[in-house]
Amino acid sequence: MAKVVQFQQVGGPEVLEVVEVDAPTPGPGQLAVSVEAAGVNPVDRKLRSGIRPLPGDGPWRTGSDGAGIVLAVGEGVDGFREGDPVAFFGAVGAYATDVVLDADRVFLRPAGVSAAQGAALGIPAGTAYQALRSLGIREDDTLLIHGGSGAVGQAAIQFAVLFGAHVIATTSDARADRVRDLGAEPVRYGDGLTGRVLDAAPDGVSAILDCAGADGVLETSIELLDDKSRIATIVIGAKADELGLRAFAGGSAKPLTPQQLAWRAEAMPVALALMAAGYFDVELGAQFSLDEAGAAQTANDSGAPGKLLIAP
Ligand SMILES: NC(=O)c1ccc[n+]([C@@H]2O[C@H](COP(=O)([O-])OP(=O)(O)OC[C@H]3O[C@@H](n4cnc5c(N)ncnc54)[C@H](OP(=O)(O)O)[C@@H]3O)[C@@H](O)[C@H]2O)c1
Repeated sequence: MAKVVQFQQVGGPEVLEVVEVDAPTPGPGQLAVSVEAAGVNPVDRKLRSGIRPLPGDGPWRTGSDGAGIVLAVGEGVDGFREGDPVAFFGAVGAYATDVVLDADRVFLRPAGVSAAQGAALGIPAGTAYQALRSLGIREDDTLLIHGGSGAVGQAAIQFAVLFGAHVIATTSDARADRVRDLGAEPVRYGDGLTGRVLDAAPDGVSAILDCAGADGVLETSIELLDDKSRIATIVIGAKADELGLRAFAGGSAKPLTPQQLAWRAEAMPVALALMAAGYFDVELGAQFSLDEAGAAQTANDSGAPGKLLIAP
């Protein structure tokens, strides 16, 4: 038997329940993975609470990112063996003891990359990498990242620094050292942000990525940069649509393009390789059991530092 976290109706954290199901077996082109850690992402809570639309009818399983050990290899899958350490993205129900998913969403975890680190990559690294590729970030850019201390923001800082850009990233005072350690210039978010960014970048910024979605971030961004094609949000897509800015979903009416989806998929092997070589890092936070999945989502929504994980 396997255990999965699911919910029958949208609502608060109390709608999440742990149920026992038959251990899943992989079909052709699939792998079964024993989950050692699943990443908690803000979208998990947004789907559970009805802020983002759910597909079809319930019950719905929760969590998409994780890492663990290959349990079984489906017909036609090459390159994996039972017992291989792996990380994955795009699962339906990663908060579980076992998961089955298409093999093209699973990647071998190099030596030195723990299950916790691998589980922290999927959505944050995929979104950050795709957003920077879509904005065409390169070495002559001065990039402003709103929410540089979050999971997506930290990934974005690291990719942008590797692309050679000068990076300024907004943060609370408490997280400024982490942002600096990753290679960005920290700037406190909140009232007066425009002035602080211009102090840090007297010649202005050439691209802006919003990973925070807080009140006023898009208005501040328009004050700082005339070129709307180089201002993007991943959080408040509907507002970006109204303002003529770019959005990579986050509630935008414009779905991700095939190229953008391809960049999201490309990010995980890139991040795993960089991490194994010591060029990419994730900040790990608290770990929760399957029974504590609601508490984990609430902690994520309350700004708990680091990547929160479910360890079944
Ligand atoms: N469109 C997509 O495909 C997509 C993909 C991934 C994530 N997202 C969305 O992107 C957002 C970030 O995700 P995440 O996983 O990085 O979340 P996270 O780890 O919880 O990070 C949240 C960030 O927001 C910052 N923040 C909080 N209050 C702020 C304020 N008033 N002004 C400016 N920044 C503020 C936090 O800074 P401090 O911690 O320093 O306070 C932190 O850097 C979420 O809304 C998520 O749903 C969208």
